[in-house]
Amino acid sequence: MGERELHVPVLLERCLELLAPALARPGAVHLDATLGLGGHAEAVLSAHPEARLIGLDRDPQALALAAQRLARFVGRTRLVHAVYDELASVLDGEELDGTLFDLGVSSLQLDDATRGFAYAKDAPLDMRMDQTRGVTAAEVLNTYSAADLARILREYGEEKFASRIANAIVRERARAAFDSSARLADLVRDAIPAPARRTGGQVNGELAALERALPAALDALRPGGRIVVLAYHSLEDRLVKRAFAARARSTAPVELPFEPEGSGPSLRLLTRGAELPGAAELAANPRAASVRLRAAERIDRTRPRSDRPKGTQPSGRPGRQPREASTRKNTSGEV
Ligand SMILES: C[S@@+](CC[C@H](N)C(=O)[O-])C[C@H]1O[C@@H](n2cnc3c(N)ncnc32)[C@H](O)[C@@H]1O
Repeated sequence: MGERELHVPVLLERCLELLAPALARPGAVHLDATLGLGGHAEAVLSAHPEARLIGLDRDPQALALAAQRLARFVGRTRLVHAVYDELASVLDGEELDGTLFDLGVSSLQLDDATRGFAYAKDAPLDMRMDQTRGVTAAEVLNTYSAADLARILREYGEEKFASRIANAIVRERARAAFDSSARLADLVRDAIPAPARRTGGQVNGELAALERALPAALDALRPGGRIVVLAYHSLEDRLVKRAFAARARSTAPVELPFEPEGSGPSLRLLTRGAELPGAAELAANPRAASVRLRAAERIDRTRPRSDRPKGTQPSGRPGRQPREASTRKNTSGEV
């Protein structure tokens, strides 16, 4: 793997620290839903010699490289080419002790100019994480209506100048179809006073897949199981925050002395709001610049209220839950 081995997995020590109590169980099963080049997975398997790994990635090239990297753990790994919203069928009822989502594109995808993710390099407009299926960015740009392009830029890129850019794309493609990223980057630069990179995105229905995958991943955790999610985009982070919050609150009336079945919280938040990288992480790993980490632990719904960890008592909204084993500051300003 050569140079790729130099890329440091984002917030690795913090991820290991958060997952450790759950993975200490003999025979623990860990799901890495975004295996990438297997950096986090390798560290988990090394730290927990009895744990088994199920690793998913939608990118066959990433899976092949991860398989090489994880070759020495072969009896303990199962690597599957799948989109993470297919995880329930991949797991087929298997319960999980640990789960990690490290969202977004891998260094492999960013560094390979032919994949078309980095606007800094002129490349074919592909931007699919799995090049064996789906539509390319070029097909979208050359065929979608101005209204649809504007909607995509607004919803997925949170782009203020969406209509201006969409109209410019439609005008420009009438002269010649788009086939490379440099021309698109020039067009965006001319349409708005900001770097072209800011409208980055992926052509894979990523948000919808994540919205389906998170509840499935939470359902698969056994009590005591833990999940860590690293998001690099505010829309992704918002989905994570909502998915966790929905299960960290009780829906039972406060005055009830007991928890009616099925109404109690099934999740304990392990981070207060989203954790951001510290200065040392940023210095070591520029790819961590926009990361937001959230983590939670599955709890047993049937435990009596008095037994619950503080912060999971019924209140109609997520409790202010104590941060575990960390004095890290939440710099996001959110809870
Ligand atoms: C940031 S990388 C993961 C890096 C990995 N943690 C490591 O240490 O090498 C994200 C990976 O998730 C994969 N991915 C993105 N969206 C996915 C999806 N919907 N289903 C499965 N894999 C996905 C990408 O192909 C990419 O390889």
